[in-house]
Amino acid sequence: METFVKAQVSPGAKTLDARWYLSADVFAQERERIFARSWIAVGRAEHVPNAGDFVLADVAGESLIVTRDQHGDVHAHYNVCRHRGTRLCTESAGRFGGSIQCPYHAWTYGLDGTLLAARTMAEVPGFDRTDYPLRSAATTVHDGFIYVNLAPAPEPFATAFAPLLDRFARWNVGALRAVRPITYDLACNWKLVFQNYSECYHCPLLHPQLDALSPSDSGRNDLTEGPFLGGFSELRQPEGSLTMTGSTVRAPLGAVDGDDLHRIYYYTVFPSMLLSLHPDYVMAHYVTPLAADRTRVICTWLFDPATIDVLDFDPSDAVEFWDLTNRQDWQISEQSQLGIASRAYTPGPYSNAEGLLAAFDRHYLATMTR
Ligand code: FES
Ligand SMILES: [Fe+2]
Repeated sequence: METFVKAQVSPGAKTLDARWYLSADVFAQERERIFARSWIAVGRAEHVPNAGDFVLADVAGESLIVTRDQHGDVHAHYNVCRHRGTRLCTESAGRFGGSIQCPYHAWTYGLDGTLLAARTMAEVPGFDRTDYPLRSAATTVHDGFIYVNLAPAPEPFATAFAPLLDRFARWNVGALRAVRPITYDLACNWKLVFQNYSECYHCPLLHPQLDALSPSDSGRNDLTEGPFLGGFSELRQPEGSLTMTGSTVRAPLGAVDGDDLHRIYYYTVFPSMLLSLHPDYVMAHYVTPLAADRTRVICTWLFDPATIDVLDFDPSDAVEFWDLTNRQDWQISEQSQLGIASRAYTPGPYSNAEGLLAAFDRHYLATMTR
């Protein structure tokens, strides 16, 4: 059983130096040391339900083709032809007709990446098709999320994600379906998105509608060090939810019961996702850094398929609540970015409500300097 504690910081804990948010060199190092070596959430298995279905993913600046083969296995192939390097695929999502054909000279690959055909190359002495499969990243599916890892010898997913493997079983996350993704383009560093998510010190000021439903000082955390951080906050209304009305007509997910009926669980999944578990729905933010001061966030809301299939299903109460809250958070995070870029900025002291931010910074710096 997990132990949940109130956040605290050690005396003297301060925010990061400005360069971690501003420097193009730091951004390039993050790509190599963090994003090209970690398990990165890129979407849901349900988005590639059948053989040949694909979505493109952007990981560490690389375009990856995430697709499912005829055996049901999910792959993430670099979007790079083995002939002269051309991008194979430009559509952001779609379905291949059983193979992947390069638009330049028609080299044709199987869904598993094997090179099936290369026009006229049989005439070239020494050419062997088996030498030129698509290059691929390691892939796994957990809780319905597709994770990829660009490292040549990645840390096994089960080791890297040990603290999360069974943690969300009560919400049956793997069986949920995503609706209405919303894409936000933010003018701030990706770490500000993680840090903003990890405290509710700002909630009474920024989120009056959230504060009305969930006390800003009710946060208690069970993951307080390392790549995964978070815990829960209380709902004021038992059996309510975070919606425009504060209540919900949806049944609790999976085996959600007892205390979980009046809690929202919030976890940061370093370095690519924020996961928020409500009694009746789950919200996932995918966070993709584009530059030191630009970040793309895709927010999706996951519901029980049985709930989605009823005739009058309407996720607006949850989507609108969080779309409003998201925009409040993005606006203030962009203001943080602007201030951090000032010559007047120096690291400031963390409050006790910001213990997870200090922990995030420790893990981040450890990862950057390992
Ligand atoms: S570059 Fe792809 S077939 Fe020539
Ligand atoms: Fe917020």
